[in-house]
Amino acid sequence: MKLPNGPKSPAFVQMLQWIFQPMPFMAACAERYGDIFTMQLNPPVVFVSNPEALQQILTSDTKEFAAPSDWNKVFEPMLGKNSVITVSGEVHRRQRQLLMPPFHGDRMRTYGQVIHDVTAQVISQWEIDKPFCARSAMQIITMRVIMQAVFGLYEGPRAQELEQVLATMLNENSPLRVVELYFPALRLDFGPRSSWGRFLRRRKRVHQLLNEEIQERRENPDPSRTDILSLLMAARDEAGEAMTDEEIRDELMTLLTAGHETTATALTWALYWIHKLPSVQQKLVQEIDSLGENSDPSSVFKSPYLNAVCCEALRIYPVGMLTFPRVVKTPVSLCGHDLEPGTIVLGSIYLTHQREDLYPQHQQFKPERFLERQFSPYEFLPFGGGARRCIGMAFAQFEMKVILAKILSSWDLALVDQNLEIRPKRRGLVTGPNRSIQLVAKQQHQLPSRALESSSI
Ligand code: HEM
Repeated sequence: MKLPNGPKSPAFVQMLQWIFQPMPFMAACAERYGDIFTMQLNPPVVFVSNPEALQQILTSDTKEFAAPSDWNKVFEPMLGKNSVITVSGEVHRRQRQLLMPPFHGDRMRTYGQVIHDVTAQVISQWEIDKPFCARSAMQIITMRVIMQAVFGLYEGPRAQELEQVLATMLNENSPLRVVELYFPALRLDFGPRSSWGRFLRRRKRVHQLLNEEIQERRENPDPSRTDILSLLMAARDEAGEAMTDEEIRDELMTLLTAGHETTATALTWALYWIHKLPSVQQKLVQEIDSLGENSDPSSVFKSPYLNAVCCEALRIYPVGMLTFPRVVKTPVSLCGHDLEPGTIVLGSIYLTHQREDLYPQHQQFKPERFLERQFSPYEFLPFGGGARRCIGMAFAQFEMKVILAKILSSWDLALVDQNLEIRPKRRGLVTGPNRSIQLVAKQQHQLPSRALESSSI
């Protein structure tokens, strides 16, 4: 099968480069081979960063292309076999239909107050001149928010333990863990001190906690509940069958993990840039202050400069480097290359967001670019697109804005080291800052976001 050009080194070497240096490796390939190239990742994979080609793939990923889960097996140890990410075809379509509504429209906006309240609670612990890790703080907030969305009001020892074990499991992102995910033969359980052994034990505990929760709900059904777990338990397929406990558990794992780590990282980047660049901070604080009485979550959501800051944070170092794999179904021509059925294609979100023709001075953080022009969904695609577009896209954007507005209207923060240059690196199957971003509170505002606190949406 003739594939677009790409590096000629042995597949094993390319796989290691991909695992350890994914972004520099992609950038070097784009520099040498352009908008489309093939990496030998056993099997070979075609990377695409041309907006027209991305449009062709993502608007047709149920016709000329498919979006199967066969290549999402790296997610299976974490999410299970029944996750929306690891299922395909009709089952995938139905699960998406079930999961999308709670993360959109009015249902989503009802979480505005929860997001605000959780943020208020976490940031009330900050103390003047006492540094804290931005990522840990953001992770606590986004984890609690998604737990509330999934389970409804969720407190008590089980909730606390779930939060803690999940966070520990996700924070372990050693290169060894990534290698284990990519090479199943290396997943060896040598007891609780070995890397894979630790993972298995933590996952077992998370499963136990989720199963207990599901059992408790089955024993005490409450039709008035509107949380996502209740929705999953009430769902019936065309044959009238309910989801099994295992199916529900895998879907919960998916939402709890995909639904908080990504948003926490995006927020961490946003906080870094806002406090790295005084002009950005000044403009943003001014805009948030100007909302005054109208600083309810829906006004916050519509604030133009805040939106531009969030977009630019998601552009410059996208948390998801790639779309999930799409596979050619019928012979197709992409960027002048004829691709045969079976070819695996990945949209490189990272490379598309680094295109100088779309984003001049692409290495600079410039929110203004999002005020000056509109980008198509194939030029700016931090949440992917098409049949597997992120289910949490609207929710994550809403959440980022409400959290940032609350933080900036309550505290003056600063980077502990203003000269620190942070780069992105792989964090498991997504990306994040290569070192800890430490922030320090300088001053607390007297009347933190009065209106936000008393508002309805
Ligand atoms: C800033 C935060 C987030 C980013 C950058 C992000 C990014 C992405 C990307 C790039 C994809 C792949 C899309 C594709 O292949 O076309 C994806 C899929 C997905 N995301 Fe997100 N995501 C974020 C937040 C969330 C949240 C909050 C949730 C849950 C509520 C979520 C749940 C999912 C799920 C379930 C999928 C798989 C969809 C499918 O296979 O059909 N994500 N996300």
